[in-house]
Amino acid sequence: MRKHVLVARRVFDSVTTRLAAHFEVEGNAEDRVFSKVELIAKLQGKAGAFITGSERIDAEVLAACPELRAVCNMAVGYNNIDLAACTARGVLATNTPDVLTETTADFGFALMMATARRMAESEHFLRRGEWTKWSVDMFIGSDIHGATLAILGMGRIGRAIARRGHLGFGMPVIYHNRSRLAPELEAEVGARYVSKDELLKQADHLVIVLPYSAESHHSIGAAELALMKPEATLTNVARGGIVDDAALAEALRERRIAAAGLDVFEGEPRVHPDLLSLPNVVLTPHIASATVKTRLAMADLAADNLIAALTGGVPPTPLNPEVLAAR
Ligand code: GLV
Repeated sequence: MRKHVLVARRVFDSVTTRLAAHFEVEGNAEDRVFSKVELIAKLQGKAGAFITGSERIDAEVLAACPELRAVCNMAVGYNNIDLAACTARGVLATNTPDVLTETTADFGFALMMATARRMAESEHFLRRGEWTKWSVDMFIGSDIHGATLAILGMGRIGRAIARRGHLGFGMPVIYHNRSRLAPELEAEVGARYVSKDELLKQADHLVIVLPYSAESHHSIGAAELALMKPEATLTNVARGGIVDDAALAEALRERRIAAAGLDVFEGEPRVHPDLLSLPNVVLTPHIASATVKTRLAMADLAADNLIAALTGGVPPTPLNPEVLAAR
């Protein structure tokens, strides 16, 4: 008998077709984000779920869906999945690392540049018809080349951003991370390890690429922002909740830092109303990995994981491989 799987969001036809060659697939053509109650109802009788960061798989969902064997996230971040609860119930969880690293780093760098050079703010000014003359200090911002790039979190994406700054823009790169990189990796990306306080104090452009967890919640709040230079910028392409958005809005309003670029928000898709009304913040709707090639690669990898997990194969990117070893 073919197993049943849920594809919780609308995905590419090629991916649904691949899954349909192995499973009975229930999709979500409307692309609605299911409530927890709806998700539980949809998962009844399903052995597997193809999910995105918008679907939360917690202990309650797992307890209500005893037939579930695999949850395959189309995202590298997996704070939407209670991994310990999955492991306790023998449910394999997977994510999509590597395939989005360079694309996300491109976007992080672009957002940092747009922030430092005031691209969104000046574009809005032009569209409003307010450009009547050239002036020496019109939308003057801060340089990228030669400025100190400060990276908080130094995983794959952090290293890819560091490489861009070091090799492409001659930036001195400093970083802080839970664990320090091996010396050869530090040399490859030209990055110097510093304490978190030093990182904040020395940053010309701070880029946040930490995974979200209870530990990283509000890693950047009022006290941390107070350590930064008034000319500095902050860019977050990691997860909402790492930065205290209310404290950031206040710091931006009072020009205690110059500007911010945000692709992720606490409680997204809602955005803190104070951020929406500030000119010195560039806001994008969680699109750092959104290129055709990368989103297809992510969806294909999530599908590869689901197919392998439910057909006795070896899933390429498991988060809790101990579940497979116990099967
Ligand atoms: C996107 O935010 C991801 O985690 O892949």
